[in-house]
Amino acid sequence: MKILLKTISVLTFALIATSCGEKKETDAYGNPVEEKKEATTETTVDPLLAKGQELFEGKGTCTACHKPDVKVVGPSIKDIAKIYKEKGASIASFINGEGETLVDASQYEIMKANFVITKAMTPEERKALEVYMMSLE
Ligand code: HEC
Repeated sequence: MKILLKTISVLTFALIATSCGEKKETDAYGNPVEEKKEATTETTVDPLLAKGQELFEGKGTCTACHKPDVKVVGPSIKDIAKIYKEKGASIASFINGEGETLVDASQYEIMKANFVITKAMTPEERKALEVYMMSLE
């Protein structure tokens, strides 16, 4: 019995000792120092960007007619983004059927057919497509 008590008191002591050891770091004034978050050098990537690319290549089927650098059926993404940037226009609005054609009015009918897809998207999805396209300029 005596040994058991002794063991318990030793254990208790050990416990107190270790919990004291876990003292938080303090600054020169004794104030607790918050753990510093690791400084990240990575630039934060807009979460909409990845989503936009996914929609562009997937559900939107935009890749069928738009490639980043070359004109296929439709103008290249970079050509579109450049003009939209210059004019301060919004792709998200265009693909929602608002706004006018700024790039190639003669081919507008072909593009217009896709509004069925883009108008059924959420505003966030249209914005994601815009973020993706504008990132390629
Ligand atoms: C069937 C081919 C085709 C598909 C698919 C297509 N486009 Fe187009 N797109 C065109 C053509 C052709 C034009 C040029 C006509 C024009 O500028 O309006 C164009 C033009 C555009 C423009 C510039 C509009 C302007 O102001 O002149 C944007 C922005 C655009 N497309 C976005 C998209 C997005 C986003 C998708 C996918 C949801 C998509 N397109 C799918 C053919 C297509």
